[in-house]
Amino acid sequence: MTRLLKVATSLALLLLPIEVQAADDQLELVFNDHCRECHSFVKDDNRLGPSLEGVVGRKAGTEPGYNYSDSLKGSEVIWHEATLDQWIANPGAVIPGNTMSPPYNGIADAAIRKKIIAYLKQISPQDAGKSP
Ligand code: HEC
Repeated sequence: MTRLLKVATSLALLLLPIEVQAADDQLELVFNDHCRECHSFVKDDNRLGPSLEGVVGRKAGTEPGYNYSDSLKGSEVIWHEATLDQWIANPGAVIPGNTMSPPYNGIADAAIRKKIIAYLKQISPQDAGKSP
């Protein structure tokens, strides 16, 4: 019995890093599915939308070199967990007149939004993103 427990424990320890890695990859895949068409996670790589590298904790409309709509530039929104969740659900409800939606309609599924925000946090400074 003890031996079995030991085997189980060492197996679990072996599997742990692999699982963490898989979780990270999975988050990236969800981001790719929904956002990558228009957004890069590479610094300064602005495409149809601005780079989302470091977006958590950033003031809306401030990524250098990206030509934002006046609505985004003029908003006082700070991107953290709560504002990102609302934005991904329905961008126009957070900042009306933005150029992301339309065409983008947002994601109704809260579980998917949560994964995308977890990914955005991974590509942002560690201490950013706590809702005030
Ligand atoms: C069809 C293209 C498109 C898709 C798909 C898209 N976006 Fe955007 N996104 C944009 C555009 C364009 C802007 C700039 C809006 C503006 O200036 O009004 C933007 C802006 C943003 C901003 C504001 C960034 C800043 O620097 O203030 C965030 C955050 C964002 N998008 C997150 C996402 C996330 C997360 C997804 C996936 C769930 C996503 N977007 C999907 C086009 C898109």
